[in-house]
Amino acid sequence: MQTDSHSTVNGTPAKADLLLDKDFVIDRVDDRLFGSFIEHLGRAVYGGIYDPGNPRSDQHGFRQDVIEMIRRLRIPIIRYPGGNFVSGFNWEDSIGPREQRPKRLDLAWSSTEMNQFGLHEFCDWSRQAGSQVMYAINLGTRGVDAARNVVEYANHPKGNYWSDLRRENGAAEPFGIKLWCLGNEMDGPWQIGQKTAYEYGRAANECAKVMKWVDPSIAVVACGSSSSDMPTFGAWELEMLEQCYENVDFVSLHRYYGNQKNDLSNFLAKSMDMDAFIKTVASLCDAAGAKKKSKKKLNLSFDEWNVWYHTLDQDKETIAQNRWGEKLHLLEDVYTFEDALLVGGMLITLIRNSDRVKIACLAQLVNVIAPIMTSERGCWAQTIYWPLMLASHFGRGTSLQPVIKSPRSSTCEYDDVPLIDAAAVLGDDESLNIFAINRSIESDVQLECDLRAFGAIKLDETISLQSDDLKLKNTEEKPDSVFPKVRKYGSRVENGNISITLPAASWNVLRFSKEIA
Ligand code: AHR
Repeated sequence: MQTDSHSTVNGTPAKADLLLDKDFVIDRVDDRLFGSFIEHLGRAVYGGIYDPGNPRSDQHGFRQDVIEMIRRLRIPIIRYPGGNFVSGFNWEDSIGPREQRPKRLDLAWSSTEMNQFGLHEFCDWSRQAGSQVMYAINLGTRGVDAARNVVEYANHPKGNYWSDLRRENGAAEPFGIKLWCLGNEMDGPWQIGQKTAYEYGRAANECAKVMKWVDPSIAVVACGSSSSDMPTFGAWELEMLEQCYENVDFVSLHRYYGNQKNDLSNFLAKSMDMDAFIKTVASLCDAAGAKKKSKKKLNLSFDEWNVWYHTLDQDKETIAQNRWGEKLHLLEDVYTFEDALLVGGMLITLIRNSDRVKIACLAQLVNVIAPIMTSERGCWAQTIYWPLMLASHFGRGTSLQPVIKSPRSSTCEYDDVPLIDAAAVLGDDESLNIFAINRSIESDVQLECDLRAFGAIKLDETISLQSDDLKLKNTEEKPDSVFPKVRKYGSRVENGNISITLPAASWNVLRFSKEIA
């Protein structure tokens, strides 16, 4: 790794500078930035959040230990029911008496869908979890008719066929789902009912239009490219927005990263790719709007993001051996400490882009590429649980633009990678939280913070994710191997300057508050 003059000299830690001002406002962080995702896939629903008969479940079959862990994350919104699954899903199969609901082949994951947990159950469960619902409609095998019906079923008060059916099925009050996804990854050949950009744009436009006729208070998300690696990336956004710009509110982004080459410096730089992806999609939205001479600005929904690569081969094997199985162990990536670092780095990127990214969903939430894992005996936090929890707790407020001078390096894929990356959030209570990653594997970095603009403040504590073993994992037997370390300070920031050591390969929250005279 090459570094510049800031790097370690004779064992002295490298230095970086961070300057903040209250006026360097990016935007208010939308609470929905800390959302997540549950798909009917593997053991996310069955054996994950829903496990009737398990002693840890309530009378509805909702695992209370899992709900408790989700509540601690303070997840504001959860996307459901897919994912690839949704493109073959009939929402009507998931309502009414359970014994009458059909079992179906799920072609997306070569599994069987039992439909024992559906729309009502998810809305009830989300309420328990303290989250709002972000519901995806099927634009693979279905279209405008199913789309308008499900909005009527979910959101119309009463007096019509679908809303009265909801009431007969036990929900007198509407579910009031405010955010809807118009299909999932419709550009992908793996998708049931893949579409061209034009076909998708037309379908999305008509669905958005009539869904809003049923309930004008909803917002809808159009599918962007399923990743920036897609050959049609860019062209897809422009062409589909040409068809639906005025009727949609958000464009989706999806991105997963892996460390297949076991090259940590390169892996940790991937949040820079995420940053570039966000800025490109924002520009594409603006270009589409400019072409239409529209005054409307589209924002972004990064509704699938995570590390995902550990189980790809194993999943192929599992599917080959258990075709049409139920509760298969699929996408059960066991996350390492370094995965948590990248997830933390991606959260920094999301917070710093809060002027355009208003919704983000860590994909997924339970058992499937998830921060929370379950067995019949209990549940535990994977390494990636911690950065999400810390960002969700301390990342609410106004995102400020930090000015950072950092040693830089280059990796096999990225030039000019700053060792220190950071985001800052000013809370409504005037607390200041700085999220900072040290991407260097070898050197601690001394972060010189210039906080003069904040007046009399004190450093209350630092919370760090740090481990000498980058491959450390949390397992059912050893659930706390990776756990945040809290250091209490309570020390005044003299003359607005403070120097804090960020250990090599660490992700940190530096927590300041106003000093009360
Ligand atoms: O989250 C797993 C899968 O990744 C989702 O079903 C799909 O949308 C994406 O390709």
